[in-house]
Amino acid sequence: MSIKVGKVIYSGKAKDVYETEHSDQVVVKFRDDITAGDGEKKDCLHQKGYYNSIISSKLFKVLEEKGIKTQYIELLEPGEMLSHKLKMIPLEVITRNIAAGSLLKKFPFKDKQVFDNPIIQMDYKNDEYHDPMLNDDISMALNLATKEELDEIREITHKINAILKDFLASKGIKLVDFKIEFGYDNDGNIVLGDEISPDTCRYWDIKTFDVLDKDLFRQGECGIMDAYKKVASMILDEEELQKFEI
Ligand code: TMP
Ligand code: ASP
Repeated sequence: MSIKVGKVIYSGKAKDVYETEHSDQVVVKFRDDITAGDGEKKDCLHQKGYYNSIISSKLFKVLEEKGIKTQYIELLEPGEMLSHKLKMIPLEVITRNIAAGSLLKKFPFKDKQVFDNPIIQMDYKNDEYHDPMLNDDISMALNLATKEELDEIREITHKINAILKDFLASKGIKLVDFKIEFGYDNDGNIVLGDEISPDTCRYWDIKTFDVLDKDLFRQGECGIMDAYKKVASMILDEEELQKFEI
C-alpha cells in the first residue's frame, strides 16, 4: 500500500509517530535507539527497529486473531507500521508472570518466583516523575482513567497475557513479564497500542533460560541483536522468515 507520510506528531525514546493523508491513521517508525534508566544509558543498535517492528506486528496479529482490538493495520515495510491513530492513555500496564526486574527491588519476592495469579501493575508514564507505580485512586485523581476504564484495561490485559503466554510458549519462549499501553480510538474504544517487542517484555528461552530481551542492554551484556533476531526467528512462520530474510 502506498501511503503519504506527513509530519512527526510524537517522538518517543525509540519510536516516532507520523501523521498520514488519512486523519485516523498514523505510521509508527521504529528507530534503532535504545535507552535505559530514564534515558541515562543510550545506544544505537543496528536493525533493532527492523526486528522490533516485525516482532510487534506478529504479536499484534496473533492478538487480533483472538479478538483483541489493536492499533495495528499493516507493516508497510520493516520498521514502518501503519496503525490506527489513538489518543494514548499515559499508563504503563505491566503484567508479571514471574518475579524479575524492579519488582525484586521493591518487594520481598524470591527471584524467578512463579505467580499463580499474574500480577498487573500500572505505572504513570511520566519521565519527570520516573514512572511511579499507581493505584486506582491516584489514577482517578490524576484523571488518567475512570474506575470502569481501569477495570476494562485489567480485563483486556489478562486476556492478552493468556494469549501471548500460550503463543510464545508454543514457540519455546517463556513470557516473564511485559509492558503494554492503551489508547482510545475515534469511537472511544480502549485499544492496545504502542509495541510488544524485546524492548518492552522479558523473554527467556524455555529450555536454556537464556535472556532474549532488553535486560541484556540494561545489564551491559553483549549479543543483544542476536537475541532480538532469535526471538523473530522463533516466532515467525516459514513464509514470514523468507519475506524478512531472517
Ligand atoms: P521492570 O521490572 O523494570 O519494572 O519492568 C517490567 C516490564 O516492563 C519489563 O518487561 C520491561 C518493561 N519496561 C518497559 O517496557 N519500559 C520501561 O520503561 C520499563 C522500566 C520497563
Ligand atoms: N525505557 C526506559 C528508558 O528508556 C527504561 C527501561 O526500559 O529500562 O529509560
